Amino acid sequence: MFYSPQSEVSGLPFNPFKSCCVPRPIGWISTVSASGVHNLAPYSQFQNVTWDPPTVMIAANARESGQLKDTTANILETREFVWNMATLDLKDWVLASSKDMAPGVDEFQALNIPWLPSRHVQARRVKGSPVHFECRLTQKLHVPGHSLDSSAWILVAEVVGIHIEEGILTEDGRIDIRRIKPLARLGYRDYTDVNHSYELTELTGREAEGISHLHETLHQPPGV
Ligand SMILES: Cc1cc2nc3c(=O)[nH]c(=O)nc-3n(C[C@H](O)[C@H](O)[C@H](O)COP(=O)(O)O)c2cc1C
Repeated sequence: MFYSPQSEVSGLPFNPFKSCCVPRPIGWISTVSASGVHNLAPYSQFQNVTWDPPTVMIAANARESGQLKDTTANILETREFVWNMATLDLKDWVLASSKDMAPGVDEFQALNIPWLPSRHVQARRVKGSPVHFECRLTQKLHVPGHSLDSSAWILVAEVVGIHIEEGILTEDGRIDIRRIKPLARLGYRDYTDVNHSYELTELTGREAEGISHLHETLHQPPGV
């Protein structure tokens, strides 16, 4: 199938777009307003941008009313946030923190989520999350949408503090991803967690010959 989203709908019962960009790591973002109200919410339009200096981005949509979500408002106001790694064990808190609460509500308190202080920023860290990035806003870009809530702010931030729980490191000093099972978002209401991985290295010799054989197969006209 093919469709041009500028002029057509997919014809499928549900919009397939978000289900094509998967799995998306979850930006579980804690912020604090200038008046001191702490906030926590998940944002799956989240990615690393580069590694030196370590930099991440969140794309936060507006509310249906067109107003900024609390996370966006707080980051634009304070220029700071914390990214908390969401894991399978923490999925109920992740989901609970996506509830739309009034800007004056301290979401850590309302959801009874334990926290730890940060070193460089005022925003809190979720206790129990194995990795935290303390982040400072460096750039922002507004992306207009066809509806109020499909517009988004892309917020780019430098990671100025990295906390890694020592117990999640393997003996050879790597993060044991299969053990911590990071949570990721798929399309619709589906999620996954990383519980399987393998290493791919540059192909040499006979393996590389295998790849050129694959090219020949793929480039054959249909029916040959
Ligand atoms: C797993 C998950 C991922 C989400 N990702 C996004 C996202 O990328 N962008 C967005 O605008 N909202 C996203 N949401 C919805 C927000 O979490 C929700 O609107 C929340 O109420 C915002 O809270 P805030 O106003 O405290 O920032 C997501 C929700 C869930 C459950």
